[in-house]
Amino acid sequence: MILVTGGAGFIGSNFIRDWIAQGGGPVTNLDCLTYAGNLASLADVAARPEYRFARGDIGDRAFVRQLLSDTRPRAVVNFAAESHVDRSIHSGGEFVRTNVVGTFNLLEEVRAYWSALPPAEQAAFRFLHVSTDEVYGSLDFADPPFTESHRYAPNSPYSASKAASDHLVRAAHHTYGLPVLTTNCSNNYGPYHFPEKLIPLMILHALQGKPLPVYGDGRNVRDWLYVADHCSAIRLVLEKGRVGETYNVGGRNEKSNLEVVHAICTLLDELSPRADAVPYAAQVSYVKDRPGHDRRYAIDATKLESELGWRAAEDFATGLRKTVQWYLANPAWIEGVTSGAYRQWVDQHYAQAAA
Ligand code: NAD
Ligand code: DAU
Repeated sequence: MILVTGGAGFIGSNFIRDWIAQGGGPVTNLDCLTYAGNLASLADVAARPEYRFARGDIGDRAFVRQLLSDTRPRAVVNFAAESHVDRSIHSGGEFVRTNVVGTFNLLEEVRAYWSALPPAEQAAFRFLHVSTDEVYGSLDFADPPFTESHRYAPNSPYSASKAASDHLVRAAHHTYGLPVLTTNCSNNYGPYHFPEKLIPLMILHALQGKPLPVYGDGRNVRDWLYVADHCSAIRLVLEKGRVGETYNVGGRNEKSNLEVVHAICTLLDELSPRADAVPYAAQVSYVKDRPGHDRRYAIDATKLESELGWRAAEDFATGLRKTVQWYLANPAWIEGVTSGAYRQWVDQHYAQAAA
């Protein structure tokens, strides 16, 4: 049994699906189902005998204690977090509550559980913390990509809260010997991505005939990784990673936001052309920049590649095509997540960005 937190979110749901498909064994999904958590993302595995769902908060120590005692996992993979930078800029409290305090409480309970395991199980146990490249801050265009030894310099409330969680995980290892692993990954994309994030938001806005809101000059660069490749990296680090180490995960797919938006438009022109035959790129619209907007992220994944033999299976062209096809083929999932609360966020956030 492994315990996955935040498994109803974008990456967690993909991870659980892959884990079961690869024959990984029983998995419990601990998720409190915030606006970003969606059990419909796991509908195809919900009835599998390996799968169990437990609704709860990583910060609720009594709940976590009971769940650990009931399920006796051999590993915990911690995805649970508030994950959207724009939301952290509007209101950072939830980010501190879940990403910092929640991770601390989870670590405390996992440590108590791990300390009481028999020696062989204790030695085999792992706590894998899923983190982000944003903890390293922003690169200039000519800088080399982030390595694992890049200094931490988070710039948003989101990345600051993730940096704090990384430090707490590191401290749990150095102080108490908890066998931890941390992965710092670049921007993911793929199926089940909540449409507040760039790629799914642009796909949906394009199809709905709405403006495609590009922040600032559109030249900010992100290093895109197809979500299944992130999942394969996590599986590998869990199995073979050296305890106490951090591993950067990225696919060497640096793109400016404008390149990404135009690539989406081109794919939609081919796969679902507008009735009036006007290219979707006509909908591109420049809006006010994100405050403190990091210019560039880029990951050097050499350690993961050379030490553990990981390789990304998708490049940006193949991954983006799969992604656009998935959104075109899954209107019911989209309908389910674009509820009143989602529409309210989009209306409020982009009204301010246009001002
Ligand atoms: P997401 O927002 O789609 O999902 C987060 C999940 O965590 C949701 O199901 C939510 O209900 C759950 N959750 C939130 N607070 C919780 C709490 N207190 N207790 C229990 N569950 C809670 O996020 P995502 O994009 O899937 O990201 C998952 C993890 O990966 C995060 O830690 C994020 O920082 C990290 N990460 C994301 C990316 C990316 O590009 N999306 C890249 C690198 C790292
Ligand atoms: O780098 C990893 C991080 O990637 C993860 O840790 C975060 O959880 C994840 O949300 C993501 O953060 P970003 O801020 O990079 O992702 P987002 O999709 O919000 O934005 C990607 C880029 O697109 C960024 O430069 C801002 C820009 N953007 C975004 C939106 C939503 C726009 O230009 N317009 C938009 O409407």
